Amino acid sequence: MSSANPAAAPDAVLVVDFGAQYAQLIARRVREARVYSEIVPSTMPVAEMLAKNPKAIILSGGPSSVYEEGAPQLDREIFEAGVPVFGMCYGFQLMATTLGGTVDNTGAREYGRTPLHVSKTSSTLFEGTPAEQPVWMSHGDACSAAPDGFTVTASTDVVPVAAFENDEKKLYGVQYHPEVMHSTHGQQILEHFLYRGAGLRPDWTTGNVIEEQIEAIRAQVGEKRAICGLSGGVDSAVAAALVQKAIGSQLTCVYVDHGLMRKGETEQVEKDFVAATGVQLKVVDAQERFLEALAGVSDPEEKRKIIGREFIRVFEQAQAEIVAEAPDDHPVEFLVQGTLYPDVVESGGGTGTANIKSHHNVGGLPEDLEFKLIEPLRKLFKDEVRMVGQELGLPEEIVQRQPFPGPGLGIRIVGEVTKERLDLLREADAIAREELTAAGLDGQIWQCPVVLLADVRSVGVQGDGRTYGHPIVLRPVSSEDAMTADWTRMPYDVLAKISTRITNEVKDVNRVVLDVTSKPPGTIEWE
Ligand code: XMP
Repeated sequence: MSSANPAAAPDAVLVVDFGAQYAQLIARRVREARVYSEIVPSTMPVAEMLAKNPKAIILSGGPSSVYEEGAPQLDREIFEAGVPVFGMCYGFQLMATTLGGTVDNTGAREYGRTPLHVSKTSSTLFEGTPAEQPVWMSHGDACSAAPDGFTVTASTDVVPVAAFENDEKKLYGVQYHPEVMHSTHGQQILEHFLYRGAGLRPDWTTGNVIEEQIEAIRAQVGEKRAICGLSGGVDSAVAAALVQKAIGSQLTCVYVDHGLMRKGETEQVEKDFVAATGVQLKVVDAQERFLEALAGVSDPEEKRKIIGREFIRVFEQAQAEIVAEAPDDHPVEFLVQGTLYPDVVESGGGTGTANIKSHHNVGGLPEDLEFKLIEPLRKLFKDEVRMVGQELGLPEEIVQRQPFPGPGLGIRIVGEVTKERLDLLREADAIAREELTAAGLDGQIWQCPVVLLADVRSVGVQGDGRTYGHPIVLRPVSSEDAMTADWTRMPYDVLAKISTRITNEVKDVNRVVLDVTSKPPGTIEWE
């Protein structure tokens, strides 16, 4: 498969990634300030960064010490090109040492929430913020002298230079992490850099994205045809809606009903999604086929492989049918995928960034399918995709849907997947979802997998009789990106209600348990 060129990106604020996990969060925060941002690896030559005509540059934090052998460095030119630069944590120390300041390994470590003493509340970064503010620190080295021409604007109990700026050269830095929410004025300080330091305007919106993408997709596709695999999830739904808006009936969506969806999801795609978008939809009922292929299989990796393989087969068959139904029409040359920016960044995404994990979605189709890709969301974060979906008029139930794994309930049954177990899990899951929504908790919970431990039985008592049933696990988690997560502290009365309803209403379930594990060490899904 070859990836076709998406729309030209608008001029960006570049976030230089020095490792750890901060760069994505910074890029998101910049976009929350309605300024477009992109991540580049710190190994990219400075000349290449500058050739992108960045509106401003942010240097992220990272795990290294600036004096360590092999620690990432930057050519001094980056600070001399007239482009506003904001260094955070490692980026701050790098700016300090590169420009002649002093950073020492003082043994003065600070981790976590730390009080910051702001000495210049009239400075570009700190104006309008309190003289004392909590910030999130994570460093071993400390800056003891700012470079010539810089004004020191803040300190902590152990770090004499915790922030500095040189307004004339438009260079700014803070020792801490303004991007994390524990730095209570962090967003304001970032916005001060963008608006006051770099003179940018908050004019980037997802509305611009829609227009740009529609134009780009039309130019790319011409009169040819495209297909899109709908999974029922937010990403493929929004990608499909966007492409439909651009090329109308030249797009056909394929929905493979593998029988592993949650209650009501297939109907939602068949009715509500089609009603909202007018898209041409081909639904393939492949439930029997998936159940047969999964019969007798308990191993999670094996299940994933089978589901992936069957999905591809069904999809290829559907594609052949679409061609056969209108053989004289223009060729089906394009495949629409709902790839998001974090997928692109984490998979190396052409930026040279380290490959953290490669993404295998079901619906992620094999390399040898002869398609060119249309990936209209590859510059967007999840919350931005939801905004695009809203602007395109998609139903709330689809736009606000929690992330759901491609292999569906197949990996939420620990043990063999059977029709009976799927039906049972669907009921339990529907109850949990209904109660979470009724309690107004959807916004607080990133995702709440409901898992059936089909291989576990325990004794219970229901009515007057002994039961020997299965447990259901509730796994409510809070997260920003699913890479890390914490279990959500949910109100007990909501848990009680879910538990009572599931044990009363779902046959063969006599226990409901709560998973109180963060990620790491646990993953979100049980599999
Ligand atoms: P884990 O279990 O790895 O899950 O902590 C992280 C996030 O990824 C989702 N997930 C998947 N999404 N295809 C997907 O599209 C998959 O195969 C898949 N496996 C896990 C999971 O629901 C969680 O949001």
